[in-house]
Amino acid sequence: MPYFSHKDETHSSAVVPEIKMRTEGLMKKYGATTALHPVDLNVHTGELLTLLGPSGSGKTTLLQLICGLTEPGGGELFIDGINKTWAPTHQRDIGVVFQNYALFPHLTVEENIAFPLQMRRVNAAEIRTQVARALDMVGLAGFGHRFPRELSGGQQQRVALARCLVYQPSLILMDESLSALDRQLRENMQVEIKRIHRETGATIIFVTHDQEEALALSDRVCLMNAGRIEQIGTPVEIYESPRTAFVADFIGISNKLSGQITAGGHLMCPDGQLPLPAPPTGRDHQHAVMVIRPEHIELTEHSGYLHGEVVETIYVGSETRLLIKLASGALMTARQSTGNTPRQLGERVFLHWQPSHARLIPG
Ligand SMILES: Nc1ncnc2c1ncn2[C@@H]1O[C@H](COP(=O)(O)OP(=O)(O)OP(=O)(O)O)[C@@H](O)[C@H]1O
Ligand SMILES: [Mg+2]
Repeated sequence: MPYFSHKDETHSSAVVPEIKMRTEGLMKKYGATTALHPVDLNVHTGELLTLLGPSGSGKTTLLQLICGLTEPGGGELFIDGINKTWAPTHQRDIGVVFQNYALFPHLTVEENIAFPLQMRRVNAAEIRTQVARALDMVGLAGFGHRFPRELSGGQQQRVALARCLVYQPSLILMDESLSALDRQLRENMQVEIKRIHRETGATIIFVTHDQEEALALSDRVCLMNAGRIEQIGTPVEIYESPRTAFVADFIGISNKLSGQITAGGHLMCPDGQLPLPAPPTGRDHQHAVMVIRPEHIELTEHSGYLHGEVVETIYVGSETRLLIKLASGALMTARQSTGNTPRQLGERVFLHWQPSHARLIPG
């Protein structure tokens, strides 16, 4: 089943998407600790949304509130427009895959996958068909008679996914489901999840603290920090237009320069006057931070907005990262594609960029 391409709420031309799941002021306290401050979140039908954030930011708490494993301290939860705040887990039509895949060790792969169907009293012939289909979907046809202990970690992970997919829940929650896997397997599973998502049309909420995984998988990323939603948007929006310093730092490498906005449309910094990405809107004299991603910085010999010295070169295969020290001592990161003549330590360079590639965030 195809699903629509999603647009951020900020795009006025966006088709209004159907809402699969919505929270209104949903929150959770454990004693004096607020694990989740009141959260308003809309998840669109058929989208793959990742909850991304550092350890302790409230991702698992939010997921547990959605599937009903934890009671909220306030707020409401709607699934398909119906208030499910206090509904038991089995009345929410949600599939859950946790990090510790919790397969039944004494049941074979087939029996593990059949379990949720047996609980739903599906007839035996139908169970056989559905189990075979689910095994096929996760690339494990032929593994049905093995026991979990006879499988690798990644294969067990796929069985857990198949057991979740087999009863075709329309909302799937996955908590750090790939974090136990090695890099290669993890990337393979990301491709699998994208394919399964495309083929089933299910709505998926995927928790991770890995920013690359979030950017690779998601229709939208919901970045969490200290129990709050910091920013929500498409991977491109989150990466290219971070709204706060936290987002800029958490996603990718960012260069940040602080200064004061001038009436002439510049940011006055210790190392130079930088052109603003857009005309100032009555914000002169305010403090602000300019964010520029390394790939937007061009190094030249003759002119640029900043000037500095190459103090470190870091080769990472596809590119070389250059650290450039400005007169104030601030360090900037730039990238150089492999194949170009490498810059030398001690070389003096100018840094230039298209003003429209910079972003301004509150200082
Ligand atoms: N059962 C609990 N009792 C007390 N505090 C809890 C409980 N569960 C979570 N917390 C606290 O709530 C906050 C959010 O925890 P949560 O598990 O949601 O974080 P997370 O974003 O999933 O982190 P991680 O990436 O480490 O899994 C943390 O400060 C945590 O210590
Ligand atoms: Mg967690």
